[in-house]
Amino acid sequence: MTALALVGAFSAVVAAQVPPDRAIKYRQSSLATMGFHFFGILAPMAKGDRPYDAKVAARSAKFVAELSEMPWHDGFPPGSESGAPTKAKPEIWKDRAKFDKLAETMQGEAAKLAQVAGTDLATMRTQVQATAKACTNCHDEFRAK
Ligand code: HEC
Repeated sequence: MTALALVGAFSAVVAAQVPPDRAIKYRQSSLATMGFHFFGILAPMAKGDRPYDAKVAARSAKFVAELSEMPWHDGFPPGSESGAPTKAKPEIWKDRAKFDKLAETMQGEAAKLAQVAGTDLATMRTQVQATAKACTNCHDEFRAK
């Protein structure tokens, strides 16, 4: 076996062994951290409930964009619809293409937000709203209340 094949086989084994409760914990913590920066900092700034600070906005938006890539692949593996308390609906694994599309759309909005946050408040506000809509579109369909 070549070294590369060996590494491949090893990662396949590791991937198959991530227990559902760890995947659930992982996705919830990455989503919670993303929510901290988005709902906790950027949305209140956009609404005027928190003083606008261009530097803080740019930093939080960069984190949201980076975190927006994290939950989907490693956090929602097949078989992780249960195993720990979760609000993820089982429909995610029945209509994975739709779920992935919603995740992709949100990543696109978050990337745009990272570009405009820290420029001016009005531009950021519009993009915060577009991003929030992309969060809600998935929550409404795939997250239990
Ligand atoms: C593609 C679907 C999807 C998108 C897009 C999405 N979420 Fe979620 N989110 C979920 C699901 C599913 C859960 C429930 C996860 C669980 O309980 O296992 C969740 C849970 C959360 C939680 C609770 C985490 C916890 O357990 O503490 C927060 C906060 C959150 N999302 C924030 C966001 C924000 C902010 C955005 C947009 C920037 C966003 N989400 C976009 C699917 C999505």
